[in-house]
Amino acid sequence: MPSPDRSIDRLLDRRIIVVTGKGGVGKTSVSLAIGALAASRGMNTLVCETNGADQICGSWGMHSGGYAITPLAPHLSTMSIRAETAIEEYLMRVLRFRKLYEMVFKNRVMGPFLDAVPGLHDLIQLGKVFDLERERSSVLSGRTRTWDLVVVDAPATGHGISMLTAPRGMMRLTRSGPFHDNARDVAGLIEDPARTAIVLVSLAEELPVFETVELYGRLGKFQEQVAAVVLNAVRTHGLPANYPDLRPELLARANPAGVEAIALADAALRRSAMQDRARQSLARLGAPVVDLPEIAGVELGPPAFDQLAAVLGQSP
Ligand SMILES: Nc1ncnc2c1ncn2[C@@H]1O[C@H](COP(=O)(O)OP(=O)(O)OP(=O)(O)O)[C@@H](O)[C@H]1O
Ligand SMILES: [Mg+2]
Repeated sequence: MPSPDRSIDRLLDRRIIVVTGKGGVGKTSVSLAIGALAASRGMNTLVCETNGADQICGSWGMHSGGYAITPLAPHLSTMSIRAETAIEEYLMRVLRFRKLYEMVFKNRVMGPFLDAVPGLHDLIQLGKVFDLERERSSVLSGRTRTWDLVVVDAPATGHGISMLTAPRGMMRLTRSGPFHDNARDVAGLIEDPARTAIVLVSLAEELPVFETVELYGRLGKFQEQVAAVVLNAVRTHGLPANYPDLRPELLARANPAGVEAIALADAALRRSAMQDRARQSLARLGAPVVDLPEIAGVELGPPAFDQLAAVLGQSP
């Protein structure tokens, strides 16, 4: 179990970790790395995709279970939250009878209404996360938590923010009643820094860093919940520290292949400098910046997620 000495251990002390960032920066991969790390420490961990995204089972070489919970590895499971299914599940619980649900909500009046309520889809997905956090399993001696940690692979940038702010939006919209009370409960969990952390993911390139800084700015009061910024797919160049001093002499003696090698080395150094600048810009946000290495080769699978988890586990 985590000890609260390092930021990564404090991160795993939370109940919910929301991972967001610009599209394609590695949110799903980082969610899985966090999940694999928590699972390796014996925590029962669920990584939830959102908005019906359904990529994780495939990267594990498995058929997708969709909304159903699918075990991936010991202590690690996944599910894909879809707003439509979560709404149906919620209303079925409230209304009890499928027939009633179909009469009330599958008709021409209520269907479009549900689509039109601002933020309802986002709220209902977080509501599912809220239910998962509270879920208890019966064990011989009593009722223990089903999930020690729920990692939410949230939508990209703007939509990630709308998801976090959806409970407050619904509270303003409704003022009282069951939706209001539900939204208040969900806000209580999502806005609690002791229970919910946010992890931002960025690539070490100018535009993604700019967009991460911008995203951080738009998080408003959620900024204090940003527990880490992951600088993903960092490359190490492996060149000797005195390469810049050696370079003129190497170039003077180089044959055409040598010139090409020097050009590659120069590009690696430029990338390294860009990564350093990215790290410095992100560090100014105030949250710990955690490097994750680029895993070269094919599409990432379980060994790569374990490798990333091990790096995360060693970070300060
Ligand atoms: N550290 C890494 N090293 C190498 N490849 C990576 C790394 N992290 C992510 N990738 C690759 O980059 C691509 C995008 O990653 P991923 O799907 O995790 O991003 P995402 O932010 O979830 O994307 P989307 O916004 O589409 O959901 C994938 O092909 C993934 O395998
Ligand atoms: Mg993704």
